[in-house]
Amino acid sequence: MIFVTGGTGLVGSHLLVQLSNTGKSIRALRRRSSEMLLVERVFHLYGTNPEAQLNALEWVECDLLDVAALDEILQDVKEIYHCAAMVSFQPSERIKMMQTNVKGTASLVNAALRKGNISFCHVSSIASLGRDDYGGIVTENTLWKSSKLQSNYAVSKYKSEQEVWRGVAEGLDAVIVNPSVILGPGSWKSGSSELFSLVWKGLRFYTEGITGFVDVRDVASAMVKLMEGRHFGQKFIVSAENLSYKQIFTWIAEAMGKRPPSIKVHPWMGEVAWRLLAVLGLFQRKKPAITKETARSSNRNKSFSSEKLIQQCNFRFIPIKSCISDVTQLFLADHRGQGRRIKAWPDLK
Ligand SMILES: NC(=O)c1ccc[n+]([C@@H]2O[C@H](COP(=O)([O-])OP(=O)(O)OC[C@H]3O[C@@H](n4cnc5c(N)ncnc54)[C@H](OP(=O)(O)O)[C@@H]3O)[C@@H](O)[C@H]2O)c1
Repeated sequence: MIFVTGGTGLVGSHLLVQLSNTGKSIRALRRRSSEMLLVERVFHLYGTNPEAQLNALEWVECDLLDVAALDEILQDVKEIYHCAAMVSFQPSERIKMMQTNVKGTASLVNAALRKGNISFCHVSSIASLGRDDYGGIVTENTLWKSSKLQSNYAVSKYKSEQEVWRGVAEGLDAVIVNPSVILGPGSWKSGSSELFSLVWKGLRFYTEGITGFVDVRDVASAMVKLMEGRHFGQKFIVSAENLSYKQIFTWIAEAMGKRPPSIKVHPWMGEVAWRLLAVLGLFQRKKPAITKETARSSNRNKSFSSEKLIQQCNFRFIPIKSCISDVTQLFLADHRGQGRRIKAWPDLK
């Protein structure tokens, strides 16, 4: 039995269908409040027998922070894929995010150690890697440096990764993946999938910042490959290409038949914008669209190398331009209300 956390999210839903296509028995965590639409959508996109596969999934309703429930859930489990986490750049959500990401991971690691004989795949992030102050390429060996430049999200992912390393030291067979910005059909309202909605709504601004990007299907494939290959006690960057936000927005706009953003946002403008929006947010009682963390990270240049994954697993990435073309088609189909009718998503491998 395989146990998956975060199965209702972008990464988790794509992982569930990949595991399910190979006939594995899967138990997945969801909360009472979880939206099931994305999972159903992803299974209909590229499940081999979607309805039967969806019916075969065993869902357990529980919060990651419900420590007492984990021992029973893991009873007959041999593999854990830990995708659940809170992704937020809102200062007001810092404490909840730390609890979910750090305490949640620690509880799952402890439950796995208590159970014994379990292999564990943890989804971390490039956010939890170190930075190269001289603009060099970040690898798995670039050391983390605590600094005010790290976002609360980055700190939470770094600390949760440390919980997995502690588990490894205590005998857990665990592998860690560090994906870059993941592109795929998500809720379109939040997370990385929101990039598509922004361009659709006529985004006029771009920044020159550079970062890594990867197709969600590649993230799921890499996780399965690394577990099958038992690459335990190691971490792997999962990032296809280093690209500027300008390039990504331009490709999305072209695929949508929209005008690409043309107004460059200089770092000082971002600094003004997040301050203004923070003050406005106080009066309007709503979350600001740009925060200090998002304004600063969108102007940073960081490049990542997946050479370790490519070499050790003979891994081939889906080109980001093709990924954007596929995801945009799905976005447009959803926008026209045809999303449920698309049954096949071209597999580019
Ligand atoms: N998206 C990216 O660009 C990106 C890049 C690098 C790394 N990552 C990492 O990849 C992983 C998956 O991210 P994603 O993009 O798939 O995020 P997502 O779409 O927001 O999904 C998050 C998942 O975590 C679950 N979750 C959150 N808090 C929980 C709790 N307290 N108890 C149980 N489940 C909880 C959510 O359940 P509900 O459905 O109930 O909300 C959802 O299934 C995360 O570890 C994230 O840090 C993401």
